[in-house]
Amino acid sequence: MNMKELITVALEARKHSYSPYSHHSVGAALLYSDGTVYTGCNIENAAYSPSICAERVAFVKAISSQAGGHPVAIAIVGGTRDATSLPYCTPCGVCRQVMREFCRDDFKVITSRIDSNGTILEMRQQTLSELLPDSFGPDNLSR
Ligand code: THU
Repeated sequence: MNMKELITVALEARKHSYSPYSHHSVGAALLYSDGTVYTGCNIENAAYSPSICAERVAFVKAISSQAGGHPVAIAIVGGTRDATSLPYCTPCGVCRQVMREFCRDDFKVITSRIDSNGTILEMRQQTLSELLPDSFGPDNLSR
């Protein structure tokens, strides 16, 4: 699966977003090295703090399904629910830290700008270590 296809899957996942409070709908598509793609959308809650981002939904689905291999890339798309075009949607700090738990430094985060027809205008590829430099991870804990 190429990166454009991964973005298209993320756009489909975004359609399931449950975001009645922020009206900000996000979709994610997480690619594993065995070729499986796990999708996610943000799911909000009236009590606010139980809300979960699209990226973490995708990771929770992958890990609880005993995904094969390792995470390779995640495509993220998001913006105001009824907007016709989408700006870059970059992962929040909590999601970056969750990625840090399960991904290698070269894990790719794909974000993009989408026009009103669903056409990708621009796409950006960043590594997790670029987005979360000097990070704290499992290897920082000694037993
Ligand atoms: N959100 C995501 O799902 N992913 C991101 O990368 C940024 C923010 C969600 C959380 C919340 O439901 C809404 O977008 C507004 O912050």
